[in-house]
Amino acid sequence: MDAVLLVGGQGTRLRPLTVTTPKPMLPTAGVPFLTHLLVRARDAGVDHAILSTSYRPEVFEGWFGDGSDLGLRITYVTEDVPLGTGGAIRNVAGHLRHDDFLVLNGDILCGLDLAALVAEHRARRADVTLHLTEVDDARAFGSVPTDASGWVTAFLEKLPEPVTNRVNAGCYVFAPSVLDRIPAGRPVSVERETFPGLLASGARVYGHVDLAYWLDLGTPAAFVRGSRDLVRGVIASAALPGPAGEALVLPGAAVADDAVVTGGTAVGRRARVGAGAYVEGSVLFDDADVAAGARVVGSVVGRGARVGEGAALTGTVVGDEARIGARNELVDGARVWPRVVLPDGAVRFSPDA
Ligand code: GTP
Repeated sequence: MDAVLLVGGQGTRLRPLTVTTPKPMLPTAGVPFLTHLLVRARDAGVDHAILSTSYRPEVFEGWFGDGSDLGLRITYVTEDVPLGTGGAIRNVAGHLRHDDFLVLNGDILCGLDLAALVAEHRARRADVTLHLTEVDDARAFGSVPTDASGWVTAFLEKLPEPVTNRVNAGCYVFAPSVLDRIPAGRPVSVERETFPGLLASGARVYGHVDLAYWLDLGTPAAFVRGSRDLVRGVIASAALPGPAGEALVLPGAAVADDAVVTGGTAVGRRARVGAGAYVEGSVLFDDADVAAGARVVGSVVGRGARVGEGAALTGTVVGDEARIGARNELVDGARVWPRVVLPDGAVRFSPDA
């Protein structure tokens, strides 16, 4: 089966981590996030993955190559200008077999049974089948009401008062006939244009409700949570490079004997955690350095970045190769851009400071 992975977005909400690395390629529990998705698709019967790229396409191909390391065939299709989610699907039409195919947003961590989604699509003879999940507050999502049999009746993007808490979870099965209904060569949003247009023309759009683990990794807080849940095995992944537990320490990393690394923290290759440091529920990228006595909680420390002695970070993102001077305190939502140097001091930085 073919799967199209939508991975061309700029990931603006995750800046500065996405300045150099596209969101689906950020190290998440020890491997690029997309690896978890590709392995899940492969295990559900996908043998050909089409990566629909736009922003920094070379990063994907440089890492995954032809896909054979994962037991997949991977094709890369790059947009000259971003075509949006629908335009991206139309743009890969020439690489698809004439059969039903999966479409996956490249930033969703989810425990959905993909094979069951495909089976439902075929049993219902649907044109498109969407995974629907439920959220407490649907205002930031596309809410998707259905009739009593599960057929979708409307697509209502980001309403102030949603009519249902069932939302589009960013994972679909398409019948090949739907491709011709998406205009070629211009940006198209599958959520705002294609799906409403299909409904208006009487197409059969089915909503497959599955309430398994589901998380959109679009923000720093969600990214940290997703990595933490993978490391701890809250969401299982066959791509996790080690046993699930309180910490995942990759080969070549050095953690001092009296340091504490816990709460689902991932420690990248050659990263260092110094004496007496405390790291909880965080992501340390390759070559990150947390000095003696530092405290890092719910934060991301970028590639080659350094957190100085006694510094304290909570809910913070430190860009690649940035330097946090000793004893500084950074709190919820603070973001430090790549290569920025904060001198030693006892200064408290918050997004509002
Ligand atoms: P933000 O800028 O933080 O909103 O992130 P994003 O750019 O990833 O946008 P969004 O989360 O809305 O995108 C959902 C999925 O579609 C992600 O996996 C994106 O990579 C992908 N995507 C968004 N726009 C495009 C596009 O123009 N082309 C392609 N190929 N993929 C896209």
